Amino acid sequence: MTKIKAAVFASGTGSNFQAIIEANQDKELGCEIVLLVCDKPGAKVVDKATDFGVPTCAVDPKSFSSKEAYEKEVVAKLHEADVTYIFLAGYMRIVGPTLLRAYDGAIINIHPSLLPAFPGLDAIGQAFRAHVHTTGVTIHYIDEGVDTGPIIDQEALEILPSDTEETLKQRIQEIEHRLYPKVIKHVLNR
Ligand code: GRF
Repeated sequence: MTKIKAAVFASGTGSNFQAIIEANQDKELGCEIVLLVCDKPGAKVVDKATDFGVPTCAVDPKSFSSKEAYEKEVVAKLHEADVTYIFLAGYMRIVGPTLLRAYDGAIINIHPSLLPAFPGLDAIGQAFRAHVHTTGVTIHYIDEGVDTGPIIDQEALEILPSDTEETLKQRIQEIEHRLYPKVIKHVLNR
C-alpha cells in the first residue's frame, strides 16, 4: 500500500520532529516523513533530520523578496516530494496564504497550551506567569489566524506548586512527544 507522504516543519531543537520519526518507526503512523522544512538553516532539527536520513529543505525566508516568494519555493519542494500532509512542530512562522491554499485542511500544528488560552509566543511562560492551575497541549488544524484553527485533541496538565518554568516545559514536552504521534495516527487512519 502506498503511504501518505508528509513533511514536518520546524525551526528549533526538533524534539517533536524526533518523537514523530521514532514513533513512526515503532508504531507505523500511516505516513512516511519525506521532508523536513526548516526556516532556520543552522537549527538543531536540521542535524536531527540528517541523522535520521530525512531530506531537508532549509531555506532562510530572508533570502526571498517576499513571504509569498518563500512559500512558493517551499510549496514547489513539497510538490516535488509528493507531500500531502504537513505537521508543524515548533515552526516559528505564521503560515501565509500561499502555503495555506496549497495545503488547505492538511496542515496540523502543536501548541503548548490549552487553546484558546495562551496563543502565540512563549505559551508555557505565559501560563506559568499567569499562575493558572492547569495548562496543557493542543493539536489543531491551521487556519489564517494565530493558533485559532479547529482543535483536534488536547491534553491538560496540572501546574504543581513545585514547578519552575523549566520543569513545566519538560512535563509539557513529555505530553507533546506522546500526543502528536497519536493524533497523527488517528487523523491519517480514520
Ligand atoms: C513545542 O513546545 C511546540 O509545542 C511549540 O514549539 C516547541 C517546539 O519544540 N510549537 P521542539 O523543537 O519540538 O523541541
